[in-house]
Amino acid sequence: MGKKKTEKLDVSPIFKPIKIGNVEIKNRIAMAPMNMNFTGPNRYVSRQQMAYYAARAKGGTGLIIMEAAMASEMAISDTYRKYNNACLSSEIYVPLMAELVEHVHSFGAKFFVQLAVNAGRQGTSEAGACQPVSASPIPWKGFPEYMINNFEPRQLARACGYQGKIPEFDDHEELMDFARKIPGVHLGGETPREITVEEIKAQLADLGQSAKNAKRAGFDGIEIHAPHGYLMHSFFSPRSNKRTDEYGGTFENRIRIVLEAIHACRKKVGPDYVVGVRISASENLPEGFDPEYARRIAKRCEEEGADYIHLSDGSYEKMNDFLPDKEGQVMPKAAIIKKGLKIPLICPSVHNPENIVDVLTTGKADMVSQGRQQIADPEWVNKVQAGKFKDIIKCTRCNIGCLTRFVLALPGRCILNPTVGQEQWMDEYMKRPILPIKKRAWQIMKEIGKEPSVPVE
Ligand SMILES: Cc1cc2nc3c(=O)[nH]c(=O)nc-3n(C[C@H](O)[C@H](O)[C@H](O)COP(=O)(O)O)c2cc1C
Repeated sequence: MGKKKTEKLDVSPIFKPIKIGNVEIKNRIAMAPMNMNFTGPNRYVSRQQMAYYAARAKGGTGLIIMEAAMASEMAISDTYRKYNNACLSSEIYVPLMAELVEHVHSFGAKFFVQLAVNAGRQGTSEAGACQPVSASPIPWKGFPEYMINNFEPRQLARACGYQGKIPEFDDHEELMDFARKIPGVHLGGETPREITVEEIKAQLADLGQSAKNAKRAGFDGIEIHAPHGYLMHSFFSPRSNKRTDEYGGTFENRIRIVLEAIHACRKKVGPDYVVGVRISASENLPEGFDPEYARRIAKRCEEEGADYIHLSDGSYEKMNDFLPDKEGQVMPKAAIIKKGLKIPLICPSVHNPENIVDVLTTGKADMVSQGRQQIADPEWVNKVQAGKFKDIIKCTRCNIGCLTRFVLALPGRCILNPTVGQEQWMDEYMKRPILPIKKRAWQIMKEIGKEPSVPVE
């Protein structure tokens, strides 16, 4: 983007409020869900999580979508135990979640939470978890040509603590095979077990309950996690779904799981609560789906009661779509998926103000989401609004502090922003600007019969 061009840019489209369902959002910037491994022990919300999200809310971000929170008992016993994701599958998590929501709200952002079921075939039993379950028993495989910045087998092996010699290989695939054998390097999956219909129904029932818990905690909405090759995505794709029952074969059968997920949540949260869905815009691989197919999924989700669609792209097999190396990469796909869609569409990975204005003014999508850019600069929105373009700390999509550390189950950092991971020690993000506290956490504890012994004034 030319410097002069940006300085003259009319950013008013970014600051036009938008409604998702009944929720009014003050601008068009959403923070994409990202697990930074900040959750406290036993999956309870931590002070660091509260301060980290507060920083982005204080920075002007209109909508924050909390990282994938576990929404089924089966998910907890799966791979996700390694990542200590936040959790909403039981009401025991609600009081602290309510505290988090109240904190973020007090800094002026709307707050949704993403709810995730299983990791699907991208799961692993490496950390002592069960054998992964997926639509069909088909493993995934990482492809060397689709890797992302700083995610090469050599870097990953070193990051995982491998200190031995890494031989020179003529064939990149041999290097991948070598790296795959190093514990923690997740470049290909074990063969999953086909999930049973009974297990699908159990997960969806848990998902509905988790949506109810999210509403109770005060979140403004929930987002069903169905992108990136995980369990729900594995059903959509002819690549990974060879089932012959009611969850496989035809298009409608393949997407049945996500439509049932919408119904399961809706049943528990009522007609007026925001239920959104996140899907990948494409797979871009043989037998995989394309944006036209994703457009049909989005439309069916709308027809079945979804309030918005949040796009992402790719999967572990197509990492450079999942974590785009290029600015604005998903914009053309969003334009295809938006066609005929009435509910708001969120286009991911747009970091550049000029591209955001283009997305909004040409109708490619109704909002954009930023992941890594919001890590690098929590004040991105305030700076753009004030015309301080030069002050923006631009994410270089290096993946060093965020994604690589995530894969290693370490708390996230950012090589451009030393405050990431330290927000809890910064008064400006811990002190609530709005007083008095509504005491929702205490109210809820009382409701579930766990009233604190110390009365709260
Ligand atoms: C550390 C990290 C964790 C992520 N966790 C999630 C997640 O929990 N749920 C999800 O849907 N996407 C997750 N993502 C993907 C982001 O939401 C986003 O789609 C991606 O980073 C591309 O956008 P960006 O280029 O603005 O970062 C994660 C990404 C990163 C870097």
